[in-house]
Amino acid sequence: MQAPPPNEPRIVIVGLGKIGSLYAACYGEAGHRIRTVDTGKSADWDQVAHAPDPSGVDAWVVATPTATHLSVVGEILRIQPDARILLEKPACYPEDLVGLRRMIRRNPRARIIVNDVYSHSGAVRHFAESVRQLAESDPVKKITVEFTKNRELDVAKGRFVDTRYGEAGYEGFHMLSILRAILPAEQYRTYLRTVPESVTAEMRVRTSAPGLPEIELYTSSTGTIAFAGLAGFAFSEGVSRNYLTPGVIPYGSEFRYRFADVELASGEHVTLVFEPFFDSEPDYKNLHVVHVRNAARHSVIAVNHFEEALLAQLELLHHIDEGTTAIRPAEHRFLAALGSAMATGAFPRTTETEHRENEEKPVLIGSEV
Ligand SMILES: NC(=O)c1ccc[n+]([C@@H]2O[C@H](COP(=O)([O-])OP(=O)(O)OC[C@H]3O[C@@H](n4cnc5c(N)ncnc54)[C@H](O)[C@@H]3O)[C@@H](O)[C@H]2O)c1
Repeated sequence: MQAPPPNEPRIVIVGLGKIGSLYAACYGEAGHRIRTVDTGKSADWDQVAHAPDPSGVDAWVVATPTATHLSVVGEILRIQPDARILLEKPACYPEDLVGLRRMIRRNPRARIIVNDVYSHSGAVRHFAESVRQLAESDPVKKITVEFTKNRELDVAKGRFVDTRYGEAGYEGFHMLSILRAILPAEQYRTYLRTVPESVTAEMRVRTSAPGLPEIELYTSSTGTIAFAGLAGFAFSEGVSRNYLTPGVIPYGSEFRYRFADVELASGEHVTLVFEPFFDSEPDYKNLHVVHVRNAARHSVIAVNHFEEALLAQLELLHHIDEGTTAIRPAEHRFLAALGSAMATGAFPRTTETEHRENEEKPVLIGSEV
């Protein structure tokens, strides 16, 4: 790519809301030149089409509401068919997946990555590596992942209201990233093809299928904690008293109970606990711990997941071949099916056509490298 003149934009952020502002801060601090597009807020331009000479743009970020992703990506590709795009998750609503695929086929030089924070997290990498090493001699029996926060205040302000993926759309992608980091690729593909044993409204997804360990994913945006016993040991007495013993995170609280636990056949547990120093360290949001419990070993990993992922994915966009995408349609369809199961009680099976459409040339990222 030709070097742009010094005053030309290098990264254009489309959608300067809550998430787009985080990108602007992160990339700005890293020394990148930032320009912005937003239809409703003060930005450099109000439409992608008004951005000047696209040849000076190294990368685009799309952080507009999910319903607009397909049209915004279309606008970008119209003016720069070989654009490098970092697209917020979800990539789009399920009914737009076919349209997104068609758009990619028509723009074979485009590179599109859907933001996948936990794939690039040093904490998840460390956890997955510990699991892999121990599992060589002690097979994985059960995987439990919980992401609980009381988001009712956010919902009252109009955030975290997903009418298509439902509860699965908020933390589901993150929980799948962690599962993807632990399971061998073939097992992970099998998991995305399973019909869960049960899906409850909170959302609790239990799966037991041949060739897979038992898997349970749980997330609650009303603050109801499900597995206080699995990661509670990592928190302070105050957190236990205020949140874990009552089993509820109250309205407005910033506390997040998020962990991934792997139980091995021997009874050993490897547990990744996010932000366990909630009430004792000012920088608690960037401190996570991997415990190997019976062996009484632990490692503290200090990392800002979000910033680490944004920088890594920008780098990745510059190195992947033209035409490479990391959209993960199979995950979108799986989560949409969970959303549907919560709303209607029935888990729709993926059709053979959809299975074919789910296939994507794999990109080696983060923990998969
Ligand atoms: N990665 C994560 O953990 C995470 C967390 C929350 C939200 N998200 C995703 O980030 C995206 C944005 O969410 P948010 O909470 O920042 O939303 P937001 O409502 O705070 O911001 C969206 C911005 O986009 C602007 N906009 C709307 N349509 C536009 C268009 N066509 N062109 C240009 N600008 C337009 C709006 O004016 C607004 O400023 C969503 O897809 C959401 O699912 C991801």
